[in-house]
Formats: sequence, C-alpha cells, structure tokens
Amino acid sequence: MRNIKQIKNLKGKRVLLRVDFNVPIKNGKVEDDFRIKASFPTINFLIKKGAFVTLITHLGKDGTESLEPVIKHFFAISKIKKNKVSFFDNVRKFSGEEENNLSFAKELATKGDIYVNDAFSASHREHASIVTLPKYLPSYAGLQLEAEVKSLSRAFDKPKHPFLFILGGAKFSTKIPLIKKYLELADCVFVGGALLGDFLRVKGYEIGKSLVDENNYNISEILNNKKLILPTDVVVRSGEKLINKKIDQIEKNETILDIGKESIKNLAQIIKKSKLILWNGPLGKYEDGGAKATKEILKLVANSKAESILGGGDTVAMISKMKMEKKFSFVSTGGGATLEFLVNGTLPGIKALD
Ligand code: ADP
Ligand code: 3PG
Ligand code: MG
Repeated sequence: MRNIKQIKNLKGKRVLLRVDFNVPIKNGKVEDDFRIKASFPTINFLIKKGAFVTLITHLGKDGTESLEPVIKHFFAISKIKKNKVSFFDNVRKFSGEEENNLSFAKELATKGDIYVNDAFSASHREHASIVTLPKYLPSYAGLQLEAEVKSLSRAFDKPKHPFLFILGGAKFSTKIPLIKKYLELADCVFVGGALLGDFLRVKGYEIGKSLVDENNYNISEILNNKKLILPTDVVVRSGEKLINKKIDQIEKNETILDIGKESIKNLAQIIKKSKLILWNGPLGKYEDGGAKATKEILKLVANSKAESILGGGDTVAMISKMKMEKKFSFVSTGGGATLEFLVNGTLPGIKALD
C-alpha cells in the first residue's frame, strides 16, 4: 500500500481525501468526533506540503442528511483554514456512489489530481468513492488508514502470546467467523454480551427473555474448544431488580444484562497474564443498566501491561464516553470494517489502492 509520505510533489495539487465523518448527530450537533479527529494528521500533512484538500464523506445511510453540523464542528475544532480545505456534498446523495457507478467515479476524479483514502471505517463498502475513484487517479493511503492496517494486523500477523480475545456485543451470526478464526490464533476467547445468551441457549440452559440471534448458525464444533471461556455468572433483570446469579439459575421471566462478579474476577486473572488483548463488543447491555462489567474491564485492560487493540462502534462509543481513547495501544475507528478486516486481513478499499 502506497501512503501519502511517498507522494513526490504536493505543492498546488488538488487532493480528493475520502474520510469517514459518518458520526452521530443529535439536535444538529456532533455527539462524538473521534473519527473526525482521526483524520487531522493526514489533513495537516497534506496542507503543510502545499495541497488543496477536498474532503469526501458520507453521513447517514441514505444521503439525505446535511453535512452542515459536521462542517461546522470540523472547522471549530481543527483550526484548519477554510481556504485550504473544502467539503464535497454528502456523497451518498448521489445514487452512483452506492451503485459503484463508473461514470460517477470518473466525474469525481475530475475534481482532483490525487486520491487519498483515510476512511478505514468505510473501506468495507464497494462504493464508487472507495473502490472505483482510485482507479482514475494516482491513489494513496492516508495516515489513519495506514495506522489501522498496521495496528489491527498485529492481531493475526505473528501476534504476541498469551493472546486474549474478548468478544461481546450482539448479532451472533456476524461474529461467528471471528470466533472461529481467533480460537485458532489466540490462547483464550472470552465471550460476553448478548453472544453469551446464544451460547447458553445452544448448550441447553434457560436464558429467559434474553436477546438471541434467530439466524441459523452452526457452532457445535466450537462449543467444546478449551480456549473458549464463557462467564460462570451473569447479572439479570428480574422485574425491577438486578440480580447476580450463576448461569444455570436464570428464570423464564429474566433477561441477561451483563456478566457477573465472579466472571469479572476470572477475566481479570486472564488479563493479568496476557501480553496481547484484542477486544470487540460491550460485555453487557450498556445502554440499559448493563455497563458495569465493560467499564471495569476497560479500566483493567487500560492499566495492564498488555498491548491492547480495541474496535467496534459501540465499544468505541463507551471508550469515548469514558474519555479513555488514549489509554490503549490502539482504538480502531471502524465498526463493520474492523470486524471484516480482522477476519479477512484486507478490505475492498485497501485492495483498490494496490
Ligand atoms: P460493536 O458495535 O462494538 O461491534 P455490537 O454492535 O456487536 O458491538 O454490539 C453492541 C450491542 O450489543 C449494544 O447495543 C449492546 O446493548 C448489545 N448487548 C451487549 N450485551 C447485551 C445483552 N446481554 N443483552 C442485550 N444486548 C446486549
Ligand atoms: C460506519 O459507520 O460503520 C461506516 O461509516 C459505514 O457506514 P455504513 O454502515 O452506512 O456503510
Ligand atoms: Mg455496533
């Protein structure tokens, strides 16, 4: 992958920089700007070398959202001069983007001399500004994209041992490939979050009204893997009460909210011995009273000597809220892209830069 440091002459050049400023917006204000800040090193590098930068991003799913709050926030916090950087419209407004239309990509290409991709978190999408635009211009990876590839690769490219993978969150069927791969690469795969309910159900436990993935999946081959560590107790919501109980004590009207005290202790012991920790997905339903274990374990991982690599939209939202972004070796800007990269070792937008 060529990166922007290899561009010979940037003076007066028009750079089309694909970023991912798809950030949460509430009442017309940016709620979390982790992804916006992550692009500053690349933008500052390009400007310093004399380039004019046009930022291309999508916002929201269907392109109807205005970029106005993002633009306002960007210039307020970056202190970048308005004559050096401009914004292209929300790129998903144009049907050619998601259709990955050649003529749309060609039209975009007329607006610049060089293409740079710094949108790791959107690089799993085969959209025009990600995979086709780079065919029409000299194209390079931005510094954030490069850092993502380098840091996340440490999970599958000669990882340090003991290697602990903590996996939580939901959507079990989307995480099975990840579990299978890291049962081979890691020494321990600790499963929490809603995924635990799926495992317990398959094992024949009562899980009450807990969230499960109704899609079909086949996990019989991993159930008895010795590297797979399941919590031994959970916190359930039982009417108005939250109760810590063993996994075989859950009743029909209860819902698993979080992993329990004993499980936190066990996980803490594994963390102590680990040299590499990879983590995706909250261990509990954090929006609804189940944030305790994730918060405690985040602090333990941050204070451990292990190299720590974390990613996932919800995981990072929690890290951001706790203002802990700088406490880990690497925090990925990606959600779906991070999961796909951890499984496949590359992404369409990365291949397009070859
Ligand atoms: P990430 O975005 O970090 O990859 P996911 O999107 O896979 O994580 O999962 C996050 C979601 O999982 C959150 O909405 C969280 O509430 C949910 N979740 C975690 N544990 C539970 C649980 N025990 N029951 C229901 N939902 C849960
Ligand atoms: C994300 O938020 O994960 C990326 O911006 C990709 O967004 P998308 O899921 O709408 O393609
Ligand atoms: Mg998520």
